[in-house]
Amino acid sequence: MDWAQLKAKVAGCTDCPLRAGCSQTVFGVGDQKAQWMLVGEAPGLEEDRLGEPFVGQAGKLLDNMLAAVSLSRGKNVYIANVLKCRPPGNRNPQPDEVAKCSPHLRRQIELIQPKLILAMGRFAAQALLGSDATIASLRGKVHQYAGVPLVVTYHPAYLLRNLPDKSKAWADLLFAKQTIVEN
Ligand code: URA
Repeated sequence: MDWAQLKAKVAGCTDCPLRAGCSQTVFGVGDQKAQWMLVGEAPGLEEDRLGEPFVGQAGKLLDNMLAAVSLSRGKNVYIANVLKCRPPGNRNPQPDEVAKCSPHLRRQIELIQPKLILAMGRFAAQALLGSDATIASLRGKVHQYAGVPLVVTYHPAYLLRNLPDKSKAWADLLFAKQTIVEN
């Protein structure tokens, strides 16, 4: 599947029941030749309304953090979610939804061929690593996904609720940057 075919597949997907309850699919945003691939969980209310990942409060924090390392969505960064459709009421993704939607993310990663994947939050980390380990135990190491170095960090929405952990997420971002330089 090339990029256009993949976009069309996601737009018309009815592989799980989520599509019936959301306004639109949220494919991803950014530079298709990016070195950085950021992966979140699933669209929320604002993302569902606008069709773009991370455009709510968590997205503003993410944009600010990216700016602090001279990055922005669209400039050497691509942002996508594990799920392309909003779960009702922002509930957690279900394992069968993750299983059905993960091939879309996998193909996005294959097409972009990033130098690094930053998995943000438990669902992204667990979906990409096939692990049920905690974020705390996965941070600070270079993992691999389909041959691409992968670094785990906290989800921006978690950081909004746990401000002291922002310094840890900042350390993760610097670690990810260093991993790109070294690979
Ligand atoms: N949280 C996510 O995981 N993804 C989004 O796109 C927005 C909020």
